[in-house]
Amino acid sequence: MLDIRIMKDEHAFDVAAAWEIIGQILKKPDSVIGLSTGATTKAMHAIVADIYRRYPFDTSRVTLFNVDELTNLPRSYAGCCWTMIQEQLAGPLEIPADRFLMPPTISDDFDSECRRFQESLEARGGADLQMLGLGYNGHIGINQPGTPFGSETWVSPMDPVFESRVRRETGVGDDYPLGGLTLGIRTIMHTRRIVLVAKGEHKAEMVRRMLRGPVTEELPASVLQLHPCCTFLLDAAAARYLSE
Ligand code: GLP
Repeated sequence: MLDIRIMKDEHAFDVAAAWEIIGQILKKPDSVIGLSTGATTKAMHAIVADIYRRYPFDTSRVTLFNVDELTNLPRSYAGCCWTMIQEQLAGPLEIPADRFLMPPTISDDFDSECRRFQESLEARGGADLQMLGLGYNGHIGINQPGTPFGSETWVSPMDPVFESRVRRETGVGDDYPLGGLTLGIRTIMHTRRIVLVAKGEHKAEMVRRMLRGPVTEELPASVLQLHPCCTFLLDAAAARYLSE
């Protein structure tokens, strides 16, 4: 039986998702929590930050990281995951640099950076909670369709829609190498608890395929059907094809 929670509207979804993060910190103050960037998670992060500002809770032992990061762009680009999470959560929750684990965006040796990122998580006992967005093509992290389920942390190509947006925003040419350093599918599946978050009607068909379709490498998020402790948190719009 999959654990599917459907919230009545977008705001109820944002609050429930924010509460997953806050609840994790209250339950285990030394939690290691993985985050995701994007339109889906922005409002939930703002709610977490707002609650912390108004009713501070103990974040002195929390470790944060993001599931993925762009490669070959400076952190001054607002679309870098480090930059977004720093602004949305790590800064507001007063998490210092040594408890905000992220690979660099610029490096001569991304293979070593992938290893280091994964080892730094393992050294803290692995993630207690991974919040995951759902890509429009079924990707999780930056693992695109076709990524082997056995993949470890690696540098993946971006999806074409996202890549062209990043090229437009940064002005880099088509021959400039861009990619995404992402936890692999196997690494993600080792997280103790996962909350997959999806909202909006534009995600509804992909949500249906993720939950009702076969588990296949052609749709990376479908692997979450096999995780022993994954909650699928949706708003009504994203869930609209589930009951049919
Ligand atoms: C990007 C991120 C993913 C995220 C996805 C969903 O691809 N790298 O980690 O889950 O976007 O984004 P959105 O919430 O904007 O639909």
